[in-house]
Amino acid sequence: MTPLEDAARVSQHAPSVFNTQPWAWRITGDTLELFAEPDRRVDSIDPDGRLLLLSCGAALHHTRVALAAAGRAISVERLPDPAEPDLLARVRLGETTVPPDPEAQRLAAAITRRRTDRRAFDDRPVAEAELTRLRRLVESEGAYLHVVRPEQTAMLAVSTELAAGTELEDPAYRADLHHWTSRPDFTGDGVPPATAVQPGLRRVPIRNFTPDGTAGLNAGVRHDRGASYVVLFGAGDQHADLLRGGEALSALLLLATADGLATAPLSDTIEVAWPRQLLRGLLAGIGEPYLVIRLGHLSAADPLPPVPRRDPRDVITIVD
Ligand SMILES: Cc1cc2nc3c(=O)[nH]c(=O)nc-3n(C[C@H](O)[C@H](O)[C@H](O)COP(=O)(O)O)c2cc1C
Repeated sequence: MTPLEDAARVSQHAPSVFNTQPWAWRITGDTLELFAEPDRRVDSIDPDGRLLLLSCGAALHHTRVALAAAGRAISVERLPDPAEPDLLARVRLGETTVPPDPEAQRLAAAITRRRTDRRAFDDRPVAEAELTRLRRLVESEGAYLHVVRPEQTAMLAVSTELAAGTELEDPAYRADLHHWTSRPDFTGDGVPPATAVQPGLRRVPIRNFTPDGTAGLNAGVRHDRGASYVVLFGAGDQHADLLRGGEALSALLLLATADGLATAPLSDTIEVAWPRQLLRGLLAGIGEPYLVIRLGHLSAADPLPPVPRRDPRDVITIVD
């Protein structure tokens, strides 16, 4: 397998909204192109494709990490062709190899270990130094991180609850939820109910993926007391900003995983206008919120049930 094909395959482990994996890759010689698959956009919650772009950005970052860990120098052009809006990025392999980057190797090793864990986290807090490291890494990827302060958590909880309630009343949302939680095996996508968590009292509510069924996971005996909630945000919400935001999301999740933290993105509050406005307020109006992420410790927990991935043959095209 060529390094580019290898990297494209690695990107399939990236997180995506409703596990839609809304991207495709085309490899031509030493060039790897990333395309959005707009048919995979979740209409009811993502009419502008923000969550789709964040997901594609995460896939792009996964390939960058895989190539850096393999000692391959690359150049990345983002949104290279205004005439082709679904072409999100072009990655070119350099001719020479470089010494593999040890930090990239650490992040690359976290790619298959990273999971969205919807169970409640322990009481042990996330260290300040860790949050600082995550913030710096996110900034190096062109986005920003706001650590929700204790006195702001209630506002985050209220806005998430409000968003979740509004969405569950929308028949189009219920239909999308049903669609993406009952996918047949061969599609290799969607959120299996086995990985969703049963509703319960949480510091900030977790999305209820199975309002008409049963979620496989129990929140457990913990209460998220030590969890940190961070808001990933950026200066704008143009396509280029969101793609970079997705790259920063991947960087954040991989570093947190490499450092032994459990992670779970939360996007409900971004998806509905008024809660999103409340979240913008938490940022004191200095940026556009992209996503909330819950970070924490989860010791001695059972392994999570598997989440499917698409067949690489449907995702990666190799042009001779
Ligand atoms: C942009 C984005 C938004 C997401 N929103 C949520 C969410 O609101 N609630 C949730 O439980 N998981 C959310 N996720 C996590 C995905 O559901 C998860 O990545 C996907 O199901 C694949 O599972 P994995 O992360 O364990 O590989 C989100 C992920 C992304 C990239």
